[in-house]
Amino acid sequence: MTEPTASEGLSNLLHEQRRFEPPAELAAAANYGASAYAQASADRLGFWETQARRLDWQTEWSQALDWSNAPFARWFVGGRLNASVNCVDRHVAAGRGDKVAIHFEGEPGDTRTITYAELGELVAQAANALTSLGIAAGDRVAIYLPMSVEAVVSMLACARLGAIHSVIFGGFSAQAIFDRVVDADASLVITADGGYRRGKVFALKPIVDEALAKGETGVRTVLVVKRGGNDVDWTEGRDQWWSDTVGTAATVHTPEFFDAENPLFILYTSGTTGKPKGILHTTGGYLTQVAYTHNAAFDLKPDTDVYWCTADIGWVTGHSYIVYGPLANGATQVIYEGTPDTPHQGRFWEIAAKYGVTLLYTAPTTIRTFMKWGEDIPAKFDLSSLRLLGSVGEPINPEAWMWYRRVIGGDRCPIVDTWWQTETGAMMISPLPGVTATKPGSAMRALPGVSVDVVDDQGNPVPDGGGGLLVLTEPWPSMLRGIWGDNDRFIETYWSRFADHGYYFAGDGAKKDSDGDLWLLGRVDDVMNVSGHRISTTEVESALVSHPSVAEAAVVGATDPTTGQGIVAFVILRGNAADGGSAMVTELRNHVAKEIGAIAKPRQIMVVAELPKTRSGKIMRRLLRDVAEHRSIGDVTTLADSTVMDLISSGMAKTP
Ligand code: WTA
Repeated sequence: MTEPTASEGLSNLLHEQRRFEPPAELAAAANYGASAYAQASADRLGFWETQARRLDWQTEWSQALDWSNAPFARWFVGGRLNASVNCVDRHVAAGRGDKVAIHFEGEPGDTRTITYAELGELVAQAANALTSLGIAAGDRVAIYLPMSVEAVVSMLACARLGAIHSVIFGGFSAQAIFDRVVDADASLVITADGGYRRGKVFALKPIVDEALAKGETGVRTVLVVKRGGNDVDWTEGRDQWWSDTVGTAATVHTPEFFDAENPLFILYTSGTTGKPKGILHTTGGYLTQVAYTHNAAFDLKPDTDVYWCTADIGWVTGHSYIVYGPLANGATQVIYEGTPDTPHQGRFWEIAAKYGVTLLYTAPTTIRTFMKWGEDIPAKFDLSSLRLLGSVGEPINPEAWMWYRRVIGGDRCPIVDTWWQTETGAMMISPLPGVTATKPGSAMRALPGVSVDVVDDQGNPVPDGGGGLLVLTEPWPSMLRGIWGDNDRFIETYWSRFADHGYYFAGDGAKKDSDGDLWLLGRVDDVMNVSGHRISTTEVESALVSHPSVAEAAVVGATDPTTGQGIVAFVILRGNAADGGSAMVTELRNHVAKEIGAIAKPRQIMVVAELPKTRSGKIMRRLLRDVAEHRSIGDVTTLADSTVMDLISSGMAKTP
């Protein structure tokens, strides 16, 4: 049985006795009551069809689910719709054009207020401009933008045309952009000169230039939003300013309607190998589940709520819970460009107070950072508008959960800890805020319509009180439809482990408590979770060994009090580099940042003479994790050379 990486302290978790009932007022007016569970289990597909009717369909589907070619699902077969019409036009048509869609807050303090009517005009302009640049249904468009209105507009414009967007997080390197652009064969890149972060302009266009100079790509056009005002080089014939192209286009656009299974986007995420996977999502099922879950888990009241998700649009949380879910639901939301400590550590709370945020969705790592900064900082701001708090991205420890509830939520806001993945597209496990009595640290139950279990290695459900692997036992509308260009890897990664049962293997360890409620324990594979970002150990290892001075590298995720996990690398240097000292370590950290992005920079790099390997040559990461987490070393009997660990541990003791 694979050992869950975050199992330490688990017995403490399961002794967690605190319970928080839903606030009576919220429960009385909740969008979803307890009957939703019964309805969904009595008729799961019927339940999803009801959810699909939240959307406007040009043609209704003839079949809810076609699972005959499992694991390749087709949901709402034969239905036709347009995602951008659902996110924008229909709200305008219903007389809500003057409602604010986006309160944009730039890091330097500039703001923009965009109504649904204005958003509609911006999306129409972008769709017209993309069409004039030759983009049509099925084409791939890479988006490398800061948090901005243009990022939302670009995604919706692609969706409007049936083109497939591939958003690349603004912190990724030129190499990462190149790999993604080539893998998806994108023909257009939308970027900005730069954006603001930590009080400074960070360059984006120069990184795109560097990426596209790395080799052959299919990119014909680079569309550049002006934001940072930094100098940029210009490739005539390829580069175009957004203001010249989009800004001058017509503000009306007649949409086409697409099949429910028309691809909507590709989003790359780390797997257990060095090569990121292009997770493919399609239109009808995805939009159905993000709209439903955004309404259900946040108890969204579109007329009165002000919603704020602090994720970046470059991650799936931004796709599902900044762009598609909230906009499909006609919500008013805040989008913030920068970091929480610019220009001061109260910036988030200042923003929440300024816009009267009622629903806040953030990550445990952010909450732990705020805990570190101290509760006197949020105390300076009026947070009384908040009525519900969400958490996503990694397991939330009970201390952080309690702090979030008490300090940010004033002990009155329910917390929804939502478990899901890039692959699931939308939330799968979460409390229903009007129904569920929550427990600090537990994501509680599958949402109505979703079927999960915790199983042992053979696929048998574990009893209450037991731990094992999290699986999804039935298909769900927003499930990934595959890995771009790699069906075999799709089947192998998610569907082979429990092929006999037909279960989706999520890669997470989990535990059922004595009530059958779920506690997520972190990844069971070689994927690390650093500040809620998925990074594979192999990816960092291959970045390290691509440096000429590195002979071998092994990377582990070590528990970190703020970021969840921190990246710790063990490297063997080549002969003549071996005495490079701390300058070499710095160089290697920067090298990883250059190869992948700053998020993948190892917290610590240890130069070692040997790595612990089994007789068959497999690196025993478990032992390295023991070292990195300052534990006594586990069983070394399967090591080819059992003295290796003594050498490594004594070396570790000497490094700061
Ligand atoms: C982890 C982010 C515990 C988990 C939406 C999953 C969580 C991975 C939670 C997906 C949660 C996400 N509790 N763990 N509430 N939410 N995770 O693809 O390990 O960036 O497999 O999607 O994050 O990360 P991804």
